[in-house]
Amino acid sequence: MKNRIDWVRQNCRLLLAIAEEFRRERPFAGKTIGTGIHLEPKTVALLLTLQAGGAKVVATGNLNTTQQSAVDYLIDRGVTVIGGPTRSLAEQLANQRRVLEYRPDLILDNGGDLFGAYLQDRYANLLGGTEETTSGRLRLQPLRKELRVPIIVINDSLIKQLAENEHAVGQSALESFIRITNRAVNGQRVTVFGYGAGGRGVAASMRGADAKVSVVDRDPLKRLRAHLDGFDTPARAAALASADLIVTVTGSPSVISAADLALFKDGVVIANIGHFPFEIDVAGIGASTEVANRDQFEDGIESLVLTDGRRAHVVAEGHMFNLAGPRPMGNSIESMDLGFALQARSLEAVALGKLTAADCVAPVPRAIDERVANAFLDLRYPRDA
Ligand SMILES: NC(=O)c1ccc[n+]([C@@H]2O[C@H](COP(=O)([O-])OP(=O)(O)OC[C@H]3O[C@@H](n4cnc5c(N)ncnc54)[C@H](O)[C@@H]3O)[C@@H](O)[C@H]2O)c1
Repeated sequence: MKNRIDWVRQNCRLLLAIAEEFRRERPFAGKTIGTGIHLEPKTVALLLTLQAGGAKVVATGNLNTTQQSAVDYLIDRGVTVIGGPTRSLAEQLANQRRVLEYRPDLILDNGGDLFGAYLQDRYANLLGGTEETTSGRLRLQPLRKELRVPIIVINDSLIKQLAENEHAVGQSALESFIRITNRAVNGQRVTVFGYGAGGRGVAASMRGADAKVSVVDRDPLKRLRAHLDGFDTPARAAALASADLIVTVTGSPSVISAADLALFKDGVVIANIGHFPFEIDVAGIGASTEVANRDQFEDGIESLVLTDGRRAHVVAEGHMFNLAGPRPMGNSIESMDLGFALQARSLEAVALGKLTAADCVAPVPRAIDERVANAFLDLRYPRDA
C-alpha cells in the first residue's frame, strides 16, 4: 500500500510538474543544496523536486518537528539526511554545521540558522539561496553586507501570505480544534486575537462554520478592517468575557495571561496558532492562586479548575495547535505546494545566475510569483485561446 508521503507527493501538483521539467533541464546539475527545514511529507516533495533538477541534497531537520518516516523516505531515495528527530538545540546546531561541511552551493534556510553559521565559516562556492520565514528575514537583514549573495525570502510573497498564512491557517485552525477537542464551533462565541493574515483566516473559517466571531487587535486599523469585514470588535475585556473559544494568532508574548482569569467564561477553550508557544502564558496561568486544580486529558488538553469552580481548558500547552494532537497535518497540501513552488523557482533563479547580490534578503521576484500563480490556475482552468 502507498503511504501518506506518496499521497502528499501525488497532490503537490505544482512540484510534480516542476520536477518533470527539472529532470529535463537539470538546473542544479553538479550543485549541492543544503537545508535545515521541517522534515515532514510536504518538504519531502520539495527536496525530491530539487534532486530531480540534478542537485545533491543534504538535509537536516528542525527542533521537534522531524518525522522519522520522512527521514527514511528521503534516505531511500538518495538524499543525504543528517541526524533524526531531536529536541536538543545543541544537537540541531551540530547537525546544521555538518550540513555546511558539504559546502553547499545553495542554501534553503528556515530561520536564518544556516546562513548565520555560514558567516562563521565561509567558503567560496556559495551562490545564495532562500529563506522561508519572516523571523529569518529579520535576522539576516542586518547581515546583508556580509552575506552579499542573492537570498530570496519566501514568506513575504503575496502568494504565501494568502495561500498559507491566511487561508490554510484558517482552515487548519477549524480542522484542528474539532480534531483535538471533538467540540462544535457552530453557535459558539469565538474570540480571535490578532487580525493579520492568520487572524483573518481563523476568523473567516470560524464564521464559515457558523460560530459568532469577535476580533481583538491592538492596531486600530486592523480592528477597523475586522469591523468592515463584518466581525464584532468589542473591547478586550468584553471579548474575553463572552468567549467560548479564544484563539491567539499575533506573534506577541503573553497575549493571554493570569490577569485574564477573572474574566473567563466557565468552560472556555484557549488555543494558540501563532508560531511561538508564548502567546498564552501557560506557566503564569498555571501558577496563579486562582487555579485550584489541573486535570490533564489525552491529546494535550489541560483543564484548569479555578477556585470558584469555573473551568478553562488549554490546548497543547499553548503550542501551535494545528501541529498538535492526534495525527497533526499542519497546513493544506495545496498551500504548501504553492509556497514550495516559490522555493523551487527561486533556487532555480539563483542557480542559473539570474539574481545578483542586490537581491540579498529580497522578496520573491514578481515574475516568479506570476509564474507560480499561473501554473496553479492553469492546472484548474484552461486558458483563453
Ligand atoms: N500555525 C501555522 O501554521 C502558522 C502559519 C503561518 C504563520 N503563523 C504564525 O502566526 C502568527 C501571526 O502571523 P500573521 O501573518 O497573522 O502576522 P501579522 O503580523 O500579519 O498579524 C499579527 C496581528 O496581531 C496583532 N497583535 C500583535 N500583538 C497583539 C496583542 N498583544 N493583542 C492583540 N493583537 C495583537 C497585530 O497588530 C497584527 O495585526 C505568527 O507568529 C506567524 O509565525 C502560524
